[in-house]
Amino acid sequence: MASTSGAAQVLVASNRGPVSYQVRDDGSLHAKRGGGGLVSGLSAIGPDAGALWVCSALGDGDREAVRRGIGEDGVRMLDIPAEVHADAYNGIANSVLWFVHHMLYQTPLEPVFDAEFRRQWASYETYNRAFAEALAAEAAEGAAVIVQDYHLVLVPGMLRELRPDLRIGHFSHTPWAPPEYFRMLPDDIARAVLRGMLGADRLGFLTRRWADAFTACCEAFAGGVGDTRIGVHGLGADADFLRRRAHEADVEERMTALRAEIGEGRKAIVRVDRTELSKNIVRGLLAYRQLLADHPEWRERVAHVAFAYPSRQDLAVYRDYTAEVQRLAAEINDEYGTADWTPVVLHVKDDFARSLAAYRLADVALVNPIRDGMNLVAKEVPVVSDQGCALVLSREAGAHEELGEDAVTVNPYDIVGTADALHRALTMPLSERADRTKRLTAAATALPPAQWFLDQLTALTGQSGS
Ligand code: G6P
Repeated sequence: MASTSGAAQVLVASNRGPVSYQVRDDGSLHAKRGGGGLVSGLSAIGPDAGALWVCSALGDGDREAVRRGIGEDGVRMLDIPAEVHADAYNGIANSVLWFVHHMLYQTPLEPVFDAEFRRQWASYETYNRAFAEALAAEAAEGAAVIVQDYHLVLVPGMLRELRPDLRIGHFSHTPWAPPEYFRMLPDDIARAVLRGMLGADRLGFLTRRWADAFTACCEAFAGGVGDTRIGVHGLGADADFLRRRAHEADVEERMTALRAEIGEGRKAIVRVDRTELSKNIVRGLLAYRQLLADHPEWRERVAHVAFAYPSRQDLAVYRDYTAEVQRLAAEINDEYGTADWTPVVLHVKDDFARSLAAYRLADVALVNPIRDGMNLVAKEVPVVSDQGCALVLSREAGAHEELGEDAVTVNPYDIVGTADALHRALTMPLSERADRTKRLTAAATALPPAQWFLDQLTALTGQSGS
């Protein structure tokens, strides 16, 4: 792949890259490759396409790799100063923009846009400028650049000024806030966000709902979207990869261990998430407790298998949330557990093979986010499930637009309603469950990552005008 200056034909930019490094005890560096839609999407254009992925060094290992000149072909990691990155990533991206788009503030006390916020915003600008400058230096004449997510909303506008010849796209993996919520941002910041995005030729969103919210914000606060085109690309599950991976030996081993934890003959209500405020894990546990209270017949006959993997632990509110998930799970186990029944089987250590094992044996998948750009777990479980699985799905997940008809829909705030939905899902006849799972799988795999990425590239560079 091209990495010489000014030679890349297709560039993607994201905060988190496809590889990360850890310093081993002996001082050597260990490289770990990540997965996800963008990784398989980009691989679709092949090794000769002149692709370059620009990302940020995130930890000490990454910074050390950049300093030692270690890297992978086709990846350029930016060594942005750690304090600048922390302000931009923790302070602005994850504590302001993520909160705005997912509507997570407890508004009587937050947000507070004070002098400290302004200082962090300046770092966010610096961090975005570092990306824009790197992209400008690496892109060939007329190259296509697709910038990812809320970390980098200023990049399209900055890059347009540096390199008017480029085709610039941006893709949002999150929801977009409605104007009434978005306008909480200070007016100049709200305009900067929208103008930064509108520097792109084309903007992509996961669902029509988020695209429409963006357009509404532009109409309200930026005089409309101007010449920027807007498209919807609903990222789907990677069925080939998932089915192959889910039948490897380590997954079979995890299934045996999980079955022992759940207990013979019991049904499993499965959830797999980052420990993320918007995923609504706490209300999921409350709904499960309500189910056990309302339907004593399920006691000892069901287990809630909840995987809540560490995420964004630099933020105190995420650490507190993780603690609350653990506290509540323990409380339910104290209240209802018996000598040979653990009502909540909670795991907090990230293990992809164990996640796939849980997908395979799930009777019910619980996906109840407050708000979610798409939610790929909702799409992955039906694909991998061995015997069909009932999907309890929040109407606020982007995936609901595509999967709603064959899911059991919930209002994520309604504990009694979610408990009732769990009961309906647990009692769904196996034949109906299997039929629904087939239709869910078809909808979930309609746009695999490779096609998702190619569609965006074609729309950005082609003549289709979409
Ligand atoms: C969401 C965002 C991604 C982000 C991921 C994990 O899906 O849209 O941009 O990479 O969460 O979060 P993290 O902060 O660990 O990168």
